[in-house]
Amino acid sequence: MSQQLLLSLVLWASCSPGNAGTAHGTLSQPRVRCRASRYPVAMDCSWTPLQTPNATRAMSFIATYRLGIATPKQSWPCLQPTPQATQCIIPHVHLFSMVPYVLNVTAVHPSGTSSSLLAFVAEQIIKPDPPEGVRLRKSGQRLQVLWHPPASWPFPDIFSLKYRVRYRRHGSSRFHQVGPIETTNFTLRATQPNAKYCIQVSAQDLTDYGKPSDWSLPGQVEGAPQKPWRLRP
Ligand SMILES: *[C@@H]1O[C@H](CO)[C@@H](O)[C@H](O)[C@H]1NC(C)=O
Ligand SMILES: *[C@@H]1O[C@H](CO)[C@@H](O)[C@H](O)[C@H]1NC(C)=O
Ligand SMILES: *[C@@H]1O[C@H](CO)[C@@H](O)[C@H](O)[C@H]1NC(C)=O
Repeated sequence: MSQQLLLSLVLWASCSPGNAGTAHGTLSQPRVRCRASRYPVAMDCSWTPLQTPNATRAMSFIATYRLGIATPKQSWPCLQPTPQATQCIIPHVHLFSMVPYVLNVTAVHPSGTSSSLLAFVAEQIIKPDPPEGVRLRKSGQRLQVLWHPPASWPFPDIFSLKYRVRYRRHGSSRFHQVGPIETTNFTLRATQPNAKYCIQVSAQDLTDYGKPSDWSLPGQVEGAPQKPWRLRP
């Protein structure tokens, strides 16, 4: 790894809150979660594989969902790309349902089966993806921040998002935060002319359902040369 890339990664890391790493794969129970980052089109669920006595034998999963806890009425498949996949898609979202969805993920392995149930209401699991294309436009002491709603959010004109902006001057340990605002740009006034700023944006459903998105990638100054840590995967 080149020294510049290493330094870039360190700088990139200094912009994040430092809680990115959550443990996966070492749990003995499947931990199921569902998220609506493309509300109201579909919900995406995933789970951690079970730790098995014989990891060389493939494990498969049966994922089904129903609406309502009390009576095991009709259930529908949660769509998996393959039976071994640890994710599935609920392709219909019942808006403002009075009863929760119940997802049943059953692991099937020669050493046995094990089911996990997760109950949720669509609006509670809304979490948009971070805003995209965050860019900075300098003009004297003003620094304009512009961004796009996450491309995965299907109907930003109907299901509006609001945004928070956080910024930190390079070398400072503390972020300042502004918002929520409903526009997709914001101007910082009286910035220091030669200072570098780490500026990130987060999106949330306008009506406060669910959670705010993670923070976006740091905004880059328009026209500046691309740095390695700014490349999108
Ligand atoms: C694990 O599975 C493999 C393949 O079926 C089998 O040959 C092996 O004996 C199993 N090991 C244990 C400890 O059960
Ligand atoms: C969960 O799904 C499995 C496999 O389809 C099934 O055997 C089990 O009864 C279901 N559990 C509940 C509580 O519905
Ligand atoms: C900033 O947002 C406002 C309100 O949405 C909009 O009218 C204006 O054109 C935007 N400015 C730029 C430079 O995109």
